[in-house]
Amino acid sequence: MENLLIVGSGGREHALAWKLHRDVPDATVHVAPGNPGTEQMGEGVRNVDVPSSDLDALADFAETRSVDLTVVGPEAPLAAGLADVFAERGLPVFGPGRDAARIESSKAFAKELMQQKGVPTAEHRTFREAGPARDHLERVGAPVVVKASGLAAGKGAYVCDTVAEAREAVDEIMVQRKYGDAGDRVVVEECLEGDELSVLFLSDGERAVPLVPSRDYKQAWEGDEGPNTGGMGAYAPVAAATPELVETVRREVVGPVLEGLAERGTPYHGVLYAGLMLTESGPRVLEFNCRFGDPEAQVILPLTGASLAEPMRAVARGGTLRGWRPETSSGAALITVLASGGYPRDYEVGRDIEIPDGVAGPNRLVFHAGTDREDGRLVTGGGRVLGVVGLGDDLEEAAALSREGADRIRFEGKQWRSDIGHHELSPDATGA
Ligand code: AMP
Ligand code: GLY
Repeated sequence: MENLLIVGSGGREHALAWKLHRDVPDATVHVAPGNPGTEQMGEGVRNVDVPSSDLDALADFAETRSVDLTVVGPEAPLAAGLADVFAERGLPVFGPGRDAARIESSKAFAKELMQQKGVPTAEHRTFREAGPARDHLERVGAPVVVKASGLAAGKGAYVCDTVAEAREAVDEIMVQRKYGDAGDRVVVEECLEGDELSVLFLSDGERAVPLVPSRDYKQAWEGDEGPNTGGMGAYAPVAAATPELVETVRREVVGPVLEGLAERGTPYHGVLYAGLMLTESGPRVLEFNCRFGDPEAQVILPLTGASLAEPMRAVARGGTLRGWRPETSSGAALITVLASGGYPRDYEVGRDIEIPDGVAGPNRLVFHAGTDREDGRLVTGGGRVLGVVGLGDDLEEAAALSREGADRIRFEGKQWRSDIGHHELSPDATGA
């Protein structure tokens, strides 16, 4: 019997387990370490008590169990070299090696690569010290965007309306070192205007095949206000993302980046996530991620009709994606994230969660992101706690299902946005 391994413990990994279990019902899907959501998926899905940071223990597990495919959810183990450790031991893994993962783990590197390959992105400068960064801010003025160069769990980007705000951001990143070493360098960039779009591609190092385009809502509060978070909701497909636009992104953005990485001797295998701003002059890159987005995966995977196990196995073994198509279903999916009160700033955990019967069903999936078990009770255990995915024939239906489910789940301090999808929904369909 086949063994699959998913590394990670959030909503994205719960969705990956759900998808791979559907794709290969006979396999055992192990999730390391998983969460209470993956724990209760029943036969065929099991949690493994190994943290996603223990690369050697993960490789030991994969070797002992003859795991046929390991899929890595989060960026941190990829940036730490999980795929390199697995490759050295001859273990099939879907995800880029440490050097290729720098496309996400170093914004400074990503910018350099884009500049070299002529990929459209915001004008920028990178600084190693706060003083020159502040001087630069005075020169360029606001609005302006300030980002920690390293990994900051989606929270290290500050879109600033004033120079004072931007100076404060530099201070948080470089002086207070809110993101630790991720703030060794700061990127100051031009503020782009437009609607955002995420397009995720599977890549075999050379070829790139797009999955259904999605839109992520990063700001904490309704009306796209408040601080950036890891993501408060998402939907797919996105009307603005026509096949022509996706093809432009493949040709002008993802193709050159894959070529650049291959030329450096670090070909990219895995999911390449292009975060784009659709500006008047065309799509421009905001960021790359070296993995599935969270919560984007939770809407993309249910809409992907084709099995992902086959292309992932192929890529993990050095094969190709030639001929593979995602067979995107004709419906829509929308996720509302339920967060702990106060997220992304300080929040409390350990609150009892109540998920009434009937919230989860064939048209509504509830994925666990930050939950825990305490004496058998389900309690909150993180900033983003649960994600409620509505699956409908169209976006209105998906949104209604998601919001109704989000409303019915209870825990103290529950914080959520009832306007996810507002770009494409009539004001009546948003609860805002
Ligand atoms: P990042 O982590 O780089 O994707 O940034 C997080 C969020 O900040 C993005 O999803 C955008 O909403 C916003 N953002 C980042 N860079 C820019 C930019 N150059 N112009 C405008 N908004 C940006
Ligand atoms: N939701 C954005 C991310 O996963 O980075």
